[in-house]
Amino acid sequence: MKIKNNFKKNVVKEEEFDSYSVRFLYHTLKTLSENKKNISIALSGGSTPLPILGLLKDYQLNWKYFDFFMVDERNVPTSNSLSNFGNIEKVFLRDINSSSHSMINDNYSIEECAINYEKLLFSKIPLGENNLPIFDLILLGIGDDGHTASLFPDTKGLNESKKVVIKNSVPQLNTERITLTYPVILNASKIIILAKGAAKDEILKEIEIGKGNHYPIARIINSNVDTTCILGIN
Ligand code: 6PG
Repeated sequence: MKIKNNFKKNVVKEEEFDSYSVRFLYHTLKTLSENKKNISIALSGGSTPLPILGLLKDYQLNWKYFDFFMVDERNVPTSNSLSNFGNIEKVFLRDINSSSHSMINDNYSIEECAINYEKLLFSKIPLGENNLPIFDLILLGIGDDGHTASLFPDTKGLNESKKVVIKNSVPQLNTERITLTYPVILNASKIIILAKGAAKDEILKEIEIGKGNHYPIARIINSNVDTTCILGIN
């Protein structure tokens, strides 16, 4: 375990990653549900969280206390195999008695979806002194390019300082994404980063020696938010 500001890194073997991460998540959610009844959690997409959420659904929790939101989303219908919400719904959300909220509504444009989701967050999640929603927990990943949420290197979304949900154009993927922004991510009570593999280990090492601040995930790691990164490497 390595500690810097409020950042902790728990390194486990890749073959133990899913079982370690689900136990860590379970204890985090259990502790939250022992202290409050309306718990807001934002989930990231990508491949890493899916097997862990698939395990988590079988744990005994007061699932009705939890309200699940998305960290980011691809510009596809929820029925599409690339849909983060769609994939999480299949392995987790459909099997638990919790409320959940997709970012994409197939009847609206991606811009309208971002505006509507921002309104939803302000209507459902308690606001801090800075008048921004405070998520109880945000799950993040790390891309091989150091992106997190859909805050990719060299994209406009990195500089958003007011809005909490935006449409972010990602020229390197020739696509548009919807994503939470730094202001609301850094306003969370707790962040858990789930990352596996050598490429992400390298990015974390660069950030720890102060040579990786160009990576979008670095702003989270160098912040004062209570952040734990579970890193699976062999
Ligand atoms: C997405 C994600 C993204 C993800 C990283 C890591 O929509 O792709 O939300 O931010 O967390 O790309 O993805 P993997 O877990 O697949 O490595």
